[in-house]
Amino acid sequence: MQISFVAPSNVTAREGGAWVVGAAEGSALLPGAVRLDKASGGAIARALKVSRFSGKVGQILEVVAPAGMAVSRLILAGLGKPELMDEKGLETLGAQFVARLHTVGESSARIEVDVPKGAKVEKGEMAAHLAFGAKLKSYTFDKYRTRNLDEYEKKLKRLRIVTPEVAAAKKVHAGLAAVAEGIFLARDLVNEPPNVLYPAEFSRRARAQLTKLGVKVEILGDAEMKKQGFGALLGVGQGSERESQLVVMQWNGGKKSVKPIALVGKGVCFDSGGLSIKVGVGMQGMKGDMAGAAAVTGTMLALATRKAKVNAVGVIGLVENMPDGTSFRPDDVLTSLSGQTIEVLNTDAEGRLVLADALTYTQRRFKPKAVIDLATLTGAIVATLGYEHAGVFSNDDQIVSRIQAAGRYTGERVWQLPLDPFYDKMIRSKIADMKNIGGANSGAITAAQFLLRFIEKDTVWAHLDIAGVAWQDGEQKVTIPSWGTGWGVRLLNRLMKEHYEA
Ligand code: BES
Ligand code: MN
Ligand code: ZN
Repeated sequence: MQISFVAPSNVTAREGGAWVVGAAEGSALLPGAVRLDKASGGAIARALKVSRFSGKVGQILEVVAPAGMAVSRLILAGLGKPELMDEKGLETLGAQFVARLHTVGESSARIEVDVPKGAKVEKGEMAAHLAFGAKLKSYTFDKYRTRNLDEYEKKLKRLRIVTPEVAAAKKVHAGLAAVAEGIFLARDLVNEPPNVLYPAEFSRRARAQLTKLGVKVEILGDAEMKKQGFGALLGVGQGSERESQLVVMQWNGGKKSVKPIALVGKGVCFDSGGLSIKVGVGMQGMKGDMAGAAAVTGTMLALATRKAKVNAVGVIGLVENMPDGTSFRPDDVLTSLSGQTIEVLNTDAEGRLVLADALTYTQRRFKPKAVIDLATLTGAIVATLGYEHAGVFSNDDQIVSRIQAAGRYTGERVWQLPLDPFYDKMIRSKIADMKNIGGANSGAITAAQFLLRFIEKDTVWAHLDIAGVAWQDGEQKVTIPSWGTGWGVRLLNRLMKEHYEA
């Protein structure tokens, strides 16, 4: 879908396609709606009289094939209460408009939404965030469909957003468009089936997408990791036909002297559970167990695309967890890169093993200002928070409040859960430094406690358990038209922009 911004003087009433204007709740018609009403010989006013439209968010008043006009349909869309309008709300609106246009099969549309009195957003920003929401809704993943393609096609090809502040809109939108590209990459990676996207294919794609943007990408395979002592990560991957990978992505957009922010991702390209094999529906969707790695990769793409003035390093551990004669076993003891030993009591608690080595490697090599890891780590977090919040665990209150604020702004919300020595006791092992599972309860917390054992003194660290938000099996969120959500790219991008960019 092609999106552009045009000044009001550059559009006329004689154009075809759909014409969308906004109406705020509880106030008189905005200038765009008044213009449209005039151009249509009072069609909007007449339609308003015979409907219950009041300008609430989500409400739509539609006049199809208005007499005497080239326009195919007029749409009056509710903006809600002006004082409640914010960036996130505008993105939702943009996505709702596009959803409507997809449903009716329009190929071209113009959106002309004025900023109502009392709204806190600027005109250019408003246009840019509408466009961003529209773009997010235009995502498709239909590469494996071969029949009835017409049914799936999104016909809307051209979207023009009318704004008096074309230059400002374009500027804000350039940054958001970069974020959309990062989200789309993350969604693609999560949606890909595991026979196609195994560790080496993931690392190839990361390198292909990022190198051309100026990101330095290094890939470590089995041999190199074995030499360096990645015993925990390699233990998980050893039952797979596919080679494990560690991908290191460096974007140096900031000052040389500034330590980077590190993003670490769990990349289990398929989690069968290993010898502690998952049963039935529990294994479905486990192609998405690399969503943390996908979010990290997508964020790196967004930062590089918009040339963010920040030093960021992304480190992802890519493995496949499979049952085989060569698999690691329950009862095995693994020696991690940190030197700490881990008694494996359940091969399905594999994500923490992958992260352990990735975290050690990242801290030792980069001495980062802060480390944020993302992982579809536990079913327990889904039982706790469901699908609306990711869990956040941290040793630093400041970074938590920053992440929470970024979450509120972008809509990728997080909820803090505790760390405490009491929970740490639950991962004591009878023979090794720790075991890889806790007890029957508080599974998301004991998993986080496990990770904390690999955080070095003085490292600022936050762990995001994204198992409930990385994909959606039930109802679709309005800006997310696919199974893989791309969760985390928006949040991390916002966090960087607000706090770590020069
Ligand atoms: N990848 C899963 C966690 C998961 C479950 C993500 C459901 C998304 C949806 C993880 O590797 C896992 O299997 N965790 C186990 C841990 C247990 C064995 C201690 C779990 O949550 O059941
Ligand atoms: Mn598992
Ligand atoms: Zn897993």
